[in-house]
Amino acid sequence: MMRGERRAVIRGTGSSLPDKVLTNLELERMVDTSDDWITSRTGIRERRVARENEYMSQFATRAAERALESAGLPASGVDLIVCATVTPDMPIPATACIVQNNLGAAGAAAFDLAAGCSGFIYALAVAERFVAAGDYRAVLVIGAELLSKFTDYRDRTTCVLFGDGAGAVLLTPGEAPYGVLATEMHADGSMADFIYVPAGGTREPASELTVAERRHYIRMRGNETFKMAVRSMEESSRAVLQKAGLTPADVNLFLPHQANRRIIDAVGTRLGLRENQVYINIERVGNTSAASIPVALDEAVRQGLVRRGDNLLFAAFGTGLTWGAAVCKWGS
Ligand code: ACO
Repeated sequence: MMRGERRAVIRGTGSSLPDKVLTNLELERMVDTSDDWITSRTGIRERRVARENEYMSQFATRAAERALESAGLPASGVDLIVCATVTPDMPIPATACIVQNNLGAAGAAAFDLAAGCSGFIYALAVAERFVAAGDYRAVLVIGAELLSKFTDYRDRTTCVLFGDGAGAVLLTPGEAPYGVLATEMHADGSMADFIYVPAGGTREPASELTVAERRHYIRMRGNETFKMAVRSMEESSRAVLQKAGLTPADVNLFLPHQANRRIIDAVGTRLGLRENQVYINIERVGNTSAASIPVALDEAVRQGLVRRGDNLLFAAFGTGLTWGAAVCKWGS
């Protein structure tokens, strides 16, 4: 359903990327691949990766601090933190609680949400309902991921794709016509083995054997995922626009999950979007999973590409499989 008069508006954005760059040329020295293959098949030239002593909550905290700063709200004013991630600091507790403490947002409720690369869409959909319902007045939605820590740098089919980073938005109540207009969330667990980490959970707890067999790293069926990604992102984009009473022609900026340049181009073409309607940063950051859309949004906002009244379309797909979309009218 379309939201009523009280809506959740995006009041601030922030992001944080590691400073360490991993280029295609460096990957050429690590696995049997080439800059030419990676660039032509994925559009990625380099990605940012965390150092050994860096962990997810540090980037999530910095992204959240920047979102609060751009909104002009002190951390003490935050009353809910939703952190979309599948790469937490540790299995227990939720990293959102660690971020709450880092920020000094005492009293804020905090939880993690796991939907892979669709995590930001899912978290935005959940958070905007709390704001639209009047339950919370300042909600931080964070997408943060250090996939490099779960990447097997001996597996050329995955290690060229992933990058690390965090993005955040602050949602507060606002009035129509601005704010989150509609959201879509979908999942199909019959494809759970398309992208997964076999060990480290209750099914295969960590052991010397699981470590020796490198079963704590991501495994992926890339080609099947690719086809599903294009179809699901197009369908959920159309559905969410229809809910909001819009068409692709009304979209000022499409900020898709940055998984593969060819996926982005295919979805853009199927939706009939022009090149200047689509924001792409994959060549610099790679696939940052749940961080992908909020990082892209923060960049676009800071580059002055987003204006009051613009219709922004977000769409993503990821492990689960999960997929979804959201549409938002910028401004408050
Ligand atoms: N360098 C050189 N060759 C490679 C590499 C590499 N890095 N990776 C794969 N190849 C080879 C394969 O072995 C294969 O060789 P073969 O024909 O001799 O068997 C050939 O290239 C083609 O492989 P495909 O898998 O068919 O290549 P494709 O064009 O599908 O591209 C890719 C692979 C880039 C992974 C693509 O399928 C893709 O982007 N899929 C989507 C992945 C994704 O977005 N996952 C999502 C999210 S992650 C999350 O949710 C946490």
